Order: sequence, then structure tokens, then C-alpha cells
Amino acid sequence: MPRRPQLAELMRRMEPRSVAIICSASETTRSNDTEYRYRQDSDFYYLTGCYEPEAIAVVAPGAEQDKYTLFVRPRDAEREAWEGRRAGVEGAVAKYGADAAFDIKEFKEKLGEIINGARNVYYRLGTHAELDRLLARQIGLMRLRSRLFRAPEAITDPGVLLHEMRLVKSEAEIAIMQQAANIAAEAHTEAMRQVRPGMFEYEIEALIEYVFRRRGASAPAYTTIIGGGANATVLHYVANAAQLRDGDLLLIDAGAEYQGYASDITRTFPVIGRFTTAQREVYEVVLETQLACVEMVKPGVTMEDLNQRATTMLTAGMVRLGLLAGDVEKLIEEKTYKKFYMHTIGHFLGMDVHDVGSYQTGDGQSRPLAAGIILTIEPGLYIAADAESVPDQYRGIGIRIEDDVLVTAGGHQVLTSKVPKEIEEIEKLMAR
Ligand code: GLY
Ligand code: MN
Ligand code: MN
Repeated sequence: MPRRPQLAELMRRMEPRSVAIICSASETTRSNDTEYRYRQDSDFYYLTGCYEPEAIAVVAPGAEQDKYTLFVRPRDAEREAWEGRRAGVEGAVAKYGADAAFDIKEFKEKLGEIINGARNVYYRLGTHAELDRLLARQIGLMRLRSRLFRAPEAITDPGVLLHEMRLVKSEAEIAIMQQAANIAAEAHTEAMRQVRPGMFEYEIEALIEYVFRRRGASAPAYTTIIGGGANATVLHYVANAAQLRDGDLLLIDAGAEYQGYASDITRTFPVIGRFTTAQREVYEVVLETQLACVEMVKPGVTMEDLNQRATTMLTAGMVRLGLLAGDVEKLIEEKTYKKFYMHTIGHFLGMDVHDVGSYQTGDGQSRPLAAGIILTIEPGLYIAADAESVPDQYRGIGIRIEDDVLVTAGGHQVLTSKVPKEIEEIEKLMAR
């Protein structure tokens, strides 16, 4: 079986005389003896394509024979009758392309052999306490028996290599993310079509997630946010329990996870399908900012450039609306705008909704975008219902507009353009 390109690339990037130990996610208790639905660790899945718990990948590019070893749960007819099929040790070779595979129970005794002579061990300390201890103890033992063993000199975070790889998406990854975006776009559009005053936020949540699953998404990529009226001013509102009223706006922030990759879309629209004058005024400030920032996206532009543009446009809008008074530059300098815009313009998107990859270059500068990076552009304005010295008509309005944008060699491509966001488009769709 040919090596997964991600694995081959990691081997190329690893230091000579090093070995990487990458661990699957553990299962997580929900309550008593029930567990949350399993979600594989993104790094592990990226590298191996294996979605089983209790698995460890060992990558040793300098090894003569087994450069890629998997430790997995062995086949077990009784356990499999309860929990489902396992690849097992044989499957780890046949299905996942490992050069060698062992029962996970053998990892402990093989650890010395695995790290012996490696100058550097790539291992992510701080996520698996038990494995952290095991590794530390093994290194201690090896130092005591330094005539027999050569203990590693360094432990480095494999994220430094893997996260830079994950940040820049391949053609295959872009195709999957386009599909994740299409599914979420369909769900948002369907919510616009179906919402009516009197419905509850959770009915819209159910509708959104029904579309996700019907179209093959494994789950929402994060907890779905359905905020009617002033609930939209709470950034991470996930109770989704209130009734939707005539005259309210509805903010939906929902994205699908498809084949391990996330989409992340926000739309805000009136429950009855027509914006009031006040809603329209606030919406236009956010929309103009969103369109301007999306337009800027191309290789070389930094997150800081995008943040500056967004902050300037939103703060100027706040002054125009009478939410703030004074000089725009000063309001920015003193961060007064944060009363109504308290996050940043967006984030990298990939296997994780807030994806990995550094926002800074080595010398601490804001990182210039490059082709293959996917990011969100998501400005918003949030005017709390009890905000002081704010014109009455704007109180309780929360608006965010969020799209997923691929940086291309020549500029950008919006992956989520199928969901309406212009006022006329939204009103036209909802009038039907
Ligand atoms: N849904 C989380 C975010 O937009 O960043
Ligand atoms: Mn986002
Ligand atoms: Mn979002």
C-alpha cells in the first residue's frame, strides 16, 4: 500500500535520527457509564486515517525496516459485538498501511526500543497524562543504564511540523472542505425558508442538524448557535431554548463536520423575512465590512491587515449609528469599539473549527496568508439589550456574517457563497 501523502511529508520534515509518537484521542465519559460519541484526534486522523481509540502511531523515518508502526486494539469478538468492528493488528497493516502493527498493550514494553538512539522524540506533552509519565519514566531508566541505552536529548511538539502541514490544504482536502461548506450552506438556506414566528430556537437547531446528517456530515463541527432576538448578542449562546418572535432577528452559527473537516457559517436574518429599518442599518455596516474583508483575501495579506480593516469599518459604523461618539482612530486606539465588537475577524479553518497553524511568523509578525489556507471572515456587531447610551431602536440587535474563504494563488474563493447574505437576496428567498 502506498504511504499516505501526509505521512510521507511528515517523514521528510522530521529531524534525522528522530522518532514521532502520535496518540489517538481517548473516549470521554458523558455521564455515569455513557460516553460522548467518539471524535478522533485531528493530528492522529490526519496522519493515519484511522478512527479508533486506544491507538498510537510511531513514525521513524531513519529506521531500516519499520518506519511506520501502529499500536491498536486487537480483534475481540466479544467487545466487537458491543462496540463495533475493529481493524485489529492485521487490519492496521492491511487497511492503514502500517509497516508493522502490535497490540496496544505491548506499547509500554516496546517504548524503550522505540526511543533508544533517537536524538529527538516528537511527542505532544500535556494531553495524555499516563503516557507523559510512561515516557518520562522510560527516559529516566535509560539514563541510569546509559551503557546499554541512549536516551533522547529532546522532546519536541510534533504540532510544530504537523500543524504547519495541516494549515495548508491539499486539493483533496479542499474538495472535502467544499463539501462540508455545501452541506452547511444547504442547512442555512433551508432554515431561512422554514423559520416562522412562534417556532423555538431548538426547532431550527434540529432542522439544521437534520440537513447535516441527511447529507452525510458526521456531526456539527461545533455546538450549533441559534440565537433569536437579544440572544444573538451572546457570542457563544448554545441554550437554543427561546421562542422566536415576530420582529426579531435570528442569528445562526452552524457548521458541519464532513470526513473530518469543518465548515463554519453564520447568517443573521429576520424571523418574518423582512428587515426593519434599524436592523437594516446595523446589518449594512456588518455586511459592508464582511464584503470588504473577503475582497482583501489573497496571498501576502496578513490577519492583522484584515483585523485593522474590520475594526476601522465597524468602528466608523458604530459612530454613524450613534452607538459611539468621538474620533474613530481614538476609539480604536482605546479599544472602546470592543463594547460592540469583541472578537477578531476570523480564524483558520480545517479539521478543527478553530484550526491549528501559527498566526505569527517566527519573528512575532502577523502571518501573511498563502495559497491553500482556509480562513473564516466573520465581523459582527452585538448591542446588548441593556446597553447604555445607545439609541433605543438598536438595543438587543446582534449580527454576525461569516463565510469560509480559501486563499488561492490569484486571490480567494468563497466556499460558502451559496447562502444568501445580501438583504435583497434574503428577503426574496424568505418571501417565497
Ligand atoms: N462558531 C465558532 C466561530 O465562529 O468561531
Ligand atoms: Mn468562526
Ligand atoms: Mn461560526
